[in-house]
Amino acid sequence: MNRRGFLGVVGAGAAGVLAGCWPDARAFQAGDAPDVELALTARSGLCPLLPGAQTPVWQYSGRVLKGPREVLSTWPGSYLGPVLRLNKGQRVRVHFTNALAEPSIVHWHGLDVPDTADGHPRFMAQPGGQYTYDFTVENRAGSYWYHPHHHHRTGVQVYQGLAGLLLISDAEEQRLNLPAGARELFCVLQDRTFDAGNRLVYHADMGMAMGMGEMSGFFGTRLLVNGALPKTTDVATVPYRIRLLNGSNARVYKLAWSDGVPVTLIATDGGLLERPLTKPYLVLAPGERAEIIADFRRMPLGATRELRSEPIPSGPFLMNMGGRGRGRGRMTQAIPDLTGAVATFRVTAAEHSDFELPDRLTTFTSDWQTDAAMPPARVVGVDFMRMSWLLDGRVFGMTDVAAEETVVAGTKAVWEFDNSGASSMGMRLAHPLHLHGRQFRVLDRVRAPGVGAADNDRLRDGFTDEGWKDTVLVMPGERVRVLIRFSHHPGLYLYHCHNLEHEDMGMMRNYRIIPRPPI
Ligand code: C2O
Ligand code: CU
Ligand code: CU
Repeated sequence: MNRRGFLGVVGAGAAGVLAGCWPDARAFQAGDAPDVELALTARSGLCPLLPGAQTPVWQYSGRVLKGPREVLSTWPGSYLGPVLRLNKGQRVRVHFTNALAEPSIVHWHGLDVPDTADGHPRFMAQPGGQYTYDFTVENRAGSYWYHPHHHHRTGVQVYQGLAGLLLISDAEEQRLNLPAGARELFCVLQDRTFDAGNRLVYHADMGMAMGMGEMSGFFGTRLLVNGALPKTTDVATVPYRIRLLNGSNARVYKLAWSDGVPVTLIATDGGLLERPLTKPYLVLAPGERAEIIADFRRMPLGATRELRSEPIPSGPFLMNMGGRGRGRGRMTQAIPDLTGAVATFRVTAAEHSDFELPDRLTTFTSDWQTDAAMPPARVVGVDFMRMSWLLDGRVFGMTDVAAEETVVAGTKAVWEFDNSGASSMGMRLAHPLHLHGRQFRVLDRVRAPGVGAADNDRLRDGFTDEGWKDTVLVMPGERVRVLIRFSHHPGLYLYHCHNLEHEDMGMMRNYRIIPRPPI
């Protein structure tokens, strides 16, 4: 399996192939013909992940009903769903069929779409049922993804294999001529635990009501990359674009090059940065994406280089009951260590490339700027009380919205995620907080003095706060302020912790966007 391009996908068209004619981004009205029409099905299957027996998984499969064939490409030997490639401005219709034995619904993570197309759990498709999505692609170019959003079962459904990449391109990105085709690679990071029969194990201790496992989230004992074991990829002496997604349930990764070269970051959750940045390492929390440029031009033929997963501290991620838990061994457990190569690149071909990464990639719109007259920040407390994870003191209710969770379409607001309060019996974990419907800007992080300082210092240089984000890792003791311009689509959207076990336990809330009143 060491063949070239494993980290790529078979059947993918070169970037730019979809560039044809772009419809204008007017609203997609019922009755309008879509530019792209897809069928997507979730069903159980078998995947050859480990030597020996195949692993039972759940997976998405797809078919293009209308539009260029290159919209959809499949991964060989992987449980991941097809990679979907869309262009800004396209009108898209997706017919989702649920062939699982339990309800499910698909969410397009990171996309700004009408609420009926967002995959809220109130729209769940029953077993054998269908759901049709209509939306116009309004997002800028970037690496987005799709996954189920069943309330209480998102964790297990993603764990069983339901996830896929959704890549958006636009004219601005295409002008940059970033490495494409065989020079575009993917790293979808997930951790899994297998039993002796190669079956996936999710929370062996699920029977124990409120075990520490559920409180912290699921941590697997094996690293999977692109829905398979990590591989060696043959590369040429040219630059590559690598799109990274942390599709794990709870695990945070710290990624660095084996030769100590800094990581060149060009894009985060919501697409390109204004300028490329270098970081000593990258920290990727569940739900987060990053795009990096890997330049193999100066490497000799035969040389190898690894993108490595570095050790992470357990403190911010594992529940610690302090004095109350002593004597119960499992409470002092560490996270199963997944240190090692995420991907190994072996230089096997001499090729030439003139590609120079421009020092200006894009210019952010005025959405990036704070307005002079903005209301004070809404503080969203992040707490653990009565054995529940809470946002602003509440757990999820299917259509529950509080007054402070009601916002006006197209307006700007600052929300402050406060993970520093003293009210949680000392139970402070890191939480990747995610907002549906919109990319936001991270304004600042303020750390309460002393709290988790040493652990925080081991990760903070890898945070990707410089780009458009839909998920931000809020560390213990931190208050993180984000600037949001809400979508122009009215409706009911979610914000939640993207630790999927926390989400399933109710660490999720709705917010409602009401139409802007006529002036
Ligand atoms: Cu990937 Cu509601 O999230
Ligand atoms: Cu989402
Ligand atoms: Cu959480």
